[in-house]
Amino acid sequence: MKLMIAIFAGALVGAAVSAPAGASPADGKKVFEGQKCNACHYTDGPAKEKSIADQLAKKGPELWYAGSKFQRPWLEGWLTKPEIIRSLAYNSLTDKNKGDHPKPAGADAKNVADFLMSLTTKEVKAGKIKPKRSLKGRLVFNKKMPCTGCHRSAGKKGKVSGGISGPTLIGAAKRLNPDWVFAYLNNPTFFKPFKAMPTFAGILKAKDIKNVATHVSTLK
Ligand code: HEC
Ligand code: HEC
Repeated sequence: MKLMIAIFAGALVGAAVSAPAGASPADGKKVFEGQKCNACHYTDGPAKEKSIADQLAKKGPELWYAGSKFQRPWLEGWLTKPEIIRSLAYNSLTDKNKGDHPKPAGADAKNVADFLMSLTTKEVKAGKIKPKRSLKGRLVFNKKMPCTGCHRSAGKKGKVSGGISGPTLIGAAKRLNPDWVFAYLNNPTFFKPFKAMPTFAGILKAKDIKNVATHVSTLK
């Protein structure tokens, strides 16, 4: 005797509801993953590095607080036309940065910028630093502390000087959120548990941290 069983697999309707064509941060996240940006950058905080080895294994800077760190117009502009920020290849003390960063274009760049700007942290409090000339801050930056030993900046007449082991601070006025610079100088290990830059909080008076953050926020 033969038993015949017929199985009907009906189409499942409405079981998997696809995400609504969403706001651009969600689209930007898809682009970020699609273009494999996450092979070199992580976007979920807090800081993941548990050792120097973790830091050295990273292929690019962490972006989980990008929305608190960068200024939106700079970010979108840089993504479409990346320029070298760190003269030496990331995590290297000798290799030159080839400047071959991927370049998302058009709407992709805009959506990725929206996504990255949505990644913020409460550690950065708004309204702490007003970008304005600070003679005291300039003195700390150029003379009292070794900032220029590691960071490039441009003087009044546009003359560039400074070391290359740290990211350039030329253009910091347009690139960095002044309140992030302040938060970073006050509590650097929150952002970078393993880092090459010394901690200045405790060495500099609270007022001078503020002054030097103010100065950085004016660097053209
Ligand atoms: C092969 C590794 C790699 C990939 C892939 C990559 N990046 Fe990067 N990214 C880097 C490195 C290295 C830097 C540092 C460049 C510099 O300082 O000049 C960087 C810098 C950045 C910065 C500036 C961060 C900062 O703190 O200065 C942003 C924003 C960024 N990348 C976004 C992206 C996006 C969006 C994508 C995907 C379209 C992407 N990256 C793909 C390696 C990568
Ligand atoms: C010994 C070298 C060194 C000195 C001195 C130094 N920095 Fe840095 N700085 C770095 C490096 C390297 C980084 C990148 C992150 C890291 O590894 O700490 C950095 C990151 C920064 C950033 C964030 C830049 C970015 O795009 O991510 C700012 C702002 C900054 N430093 C300001 C200062 C100021 C202000 C001083 C002086 C009070 C100073 N630095 C002294 C090496 C230095």
